[in-house]
Amino acid sequence: MTKKHTLFLLLFTACLGLGATGLLQSCETKAEKGKSEHAAATAAEGAAAVKRLPFGKLKNGTEAYLYTLTNKHNTQATFTDYGGRLVSLQVPDKNGKMTDVVAGMSGVAAYASNTDAYFGATIGRYGNRIANGKFTLDGKEYTLSVNNGANTLHGGKKGFQKVMWEAQQPDARSVVFQYLAKDMEEGFPGNLHVKVTYTLTDENELRMDYEATTDKPTVVNLTNHAYFNLNGEGSGDILGHRLQINADTYTPVDATLIPTGKLAPVAGTPFDFRKPTPIGASIETENEQLTNGKGYDHNYVLNKEKSTGMTRAASVTGDKSGIVMDVYTLEPGLQFYSGNFMKGKNTFKGGSKDDYRTAFCLETQHFPDSPNQPSFPSTVLKPGETYRTSTVYKFAVQK
Ligand code: BGC
Repeated sequence: MTKKHTLFLLLFTACLGLGATGLLQSCETKAEKGKSEHAAATAAEGAAAVKRLPFGKLKNGTEAYLYTLTNKHNTQATFTDYGGRLVSLQVPDKNGKMTDVVAGMSGVAAYASNTDAYFGATIGRYGNRIANGKFTLDGKEYTLSVNNGANTLHGGKKGFQKVMWEAQQPDARSVVFQYLAKDMEEGFPGNLHVKVTYTLTDENELRMDYEATTDKPTVVNLTNHAYFNLNGEGSGDILGHRLQINADTYTPVDATLIPTGKLAPVAGTPFDFRKPTPIGASIETENEQLTNGKGYDHNYVLNKEKSTGMTRAASVTGDKSGIVMDVYTLEPGLQFYSGNFMKGKNTFKGGSKDDYRTAFCLETQHFPDSPNQPSFPSTVLKPGETYRTSTVYKFAVQK
């Protein structure tokens, strides 16, 4: 190891001791560090003192900011307005040690130059894939920005992940991001006004409430693309995490990850997570669907427990930390992605690389390619209607 490397490592180790908010700031100037500590303390005291902190600049000079939510357990969630994005989430592990369970980057420039633009971002206008970047609505065919082979993924080349959102932080518990996606932006019809409210409750829940309105008929499918490692960012692969998904069926895909339109039972397949099962238990099994996804990259059709309100979608436990994350949602589907395209090309805020399968995503959603699949629940939004959906990630430790 060269002296330079040792210095870098020492710096990051020092940063690590400070926790995510401290970390992000301490890697800037001393003055910023002072500000950061002050903000963290004052944010906990109340609304009047809520402050945003600098998170660096984009190439075009636009400044991004960090917004921190804190609850009475000192759980901390940090967001940036670039992509309306979750940057870090510090929750206590089974020994009470604060652990950052969300993979993120150290500044806005790192997010902008990442090979994967989606880390922690709000995804839209259409989460997951639309086949061949085309769909027909009210007899008119629309051609979208294509960014995943022949398909459109997560809203197109720019999507919602590479734009600045207008942010407001009304109090220490919530942050509100708003974005106006223009008519025909990425090829989608209608001026779409989107609002996402993130709230951190004293029950250690991170709540996401989405709203959208349009002035022309369009399609909408919003989600958050947090990459989780419940043992902590950069603590190795996620194959030992135990996952339970409340779904009897899933939507099989072709080799380009477009649903075939069928619902397939999970019973007797590597897709059966109805009981808590290590993610790695069957991931290397010979199976056409696992080959198509290069691992798990599939939409689960959630079992509806009751006719109204949120469904308990999934539960995951970090095998080393004992941290449990329960997912609740109003959405009918859940994309389970086991980090198969992670290639160690990007550096996380703690200094580690985004290595193969070192994080997983559980993206609540309508089913992929719904605009072309008449049998799937509709994603059409019309003028005069309001799109509303909610998802909760709730944290606890295994008893
Ligand atoms: C998709 C993956 C994709 C990943 C990008 C997931 O939602 O299903 O195929 O590689 O997002 O981060």
